[in-house]
Amino acid sequence: MKHGNSGLSAYGTTIFEVMSRLAREHGAINLGQGFPDGNGPDDVRAVAARALEDRPNQYPPMLGLPELRQAVAAHARRFYGLEVDGEREVMVTSGATEALAACLLGLLDPGDEAVLFEPLYDSYLPIVERAGAIGRRVRVEPPGWRIDPDAMAAAFSPRTKLVLLNTPMNPTGKVFTQGELAAIAELVAAHDAFAVCDEVYEHLVFDGARHHPLIGLPGMRERTARIGSAGKTFSLTGWKVGYVTAAPDMLAPIARAHQFLTFTTPPNLQAAAAHGLGKADDYFTGLAAGMQAGRDRLRAGLERIGFAVAPCQGTYFLTVDVRSIGFTGSDLDFCTEIVREAGVAAIPFSAFYVERPPEGHVRFAFCKPAAMLDEAIERLAAWVSRR
Ligand SMILES: Cc1ncc(COP(=O)(O)O)c(C=O)c1O
Repeated sequence: MKHGNSGLSAYGTTIFEVMSRLAREHGAINLGQGFPDGNGPDDVRAVAARALEDRPNQYPPMLGLPELRQAVAAHARRFYGLEVDGEREVMVTSGATEALAACLLGLLDPGDEAVLFEPLYDSYLPIVERAGAIGRRVRVEPPGWRIDPDAMAAAFSPRTKLVLLNTPMNPTGKVFTQGELAAIAELVAAHDAFAVCDEVYEHLVFDGARHHPLIGLPGMRERTARIGSAGKTFSLTGWKVGYVTAAPDMLAPIARAHQFLTFTTPPNLQAAAAHGLGKADDYFTGLAAGMQAGRDRLRAGLERIGFAVAPCQGTYFLTVDVRSIGFTGSDLDFCTEIVREAGVAAIPFSAFYVERPPEGHVRFAFCKPAAMLDEAIERLAAWVSRR
């Protein structure tokens, strides 16, 4: 028998799937995979349910339902003052995952280089490499998650086709500063490159901070694709509805890739996402406030046990340095031990690195109900005191 694609096969099953399976096997509280435990806003689900019954269920337009494309444009105006033409500059995808794949496959040629920030969300490098391109990695280091400007500049070359940026950033919880974004914009323009911005956590920014889309910076409007996710914005991660916003000339090759990836996305979920994006401001502030409360609760509990917790300005995730409690094994050893012995699942940071991960760092998700976070803290505290 011949083998499947060697590049993709080399990655094996993602750690998220592996840890979730272990969590089920051991009856553990799953603070590994990042999904909220609720069922999203009732009105958004009701629109989806009604649309399933009352509206066509055949192929919607390839670029997405006009009402969702207009809603994405209106949302960009409302939150960021961006003027977007919903008809020519927005495309709906099957989750941000497909949006990312469409951007990378649509923009990269074999031999091109893509600048990426490490730790990396798991789908980035496999798709860059599947496009035949080369990933140039820039590290952000704990505990401050700062970028070394010289290292970043050194990652760009005449072969740089694009930079792929994730802010707020999974797994670090970092929100890129305006200074960092300006430095990235300068390098992108100087190299006549594109930027692809994964902004799925745009509404999960804490402590009164604001999310700033790179596309809004001077010189970036024509060369940036901005990606959002209804899954994250409405806490409905199984829906897989995403959207890309880019100038028409940049969107065209991305749409070419999308037409051969999924072509379209379930129409009832698109209608519901359009409704959701128009929800009143208190929905969006409440979403961030609820998540911030989860962050604070988990952080306080972990610190009470003795864990050193890195700063977190956004997303669903906290980073913990497990050496702070005297654990001397690897991050994977820690996650394997706590899922079995404490009944709590987490994700080892090494899963987000190609090489040289920071030692002993793990990621805990706090997008969970208070009682579940409390129980996880209690279980971890009991495990630490038994050691
Ligand atoms: C940084 C990042 N990008 C993209 C995605 C995928 O989003 P979606 O579920 O809309 O495909 C996730 C989901 O965890 C994520 O954390």
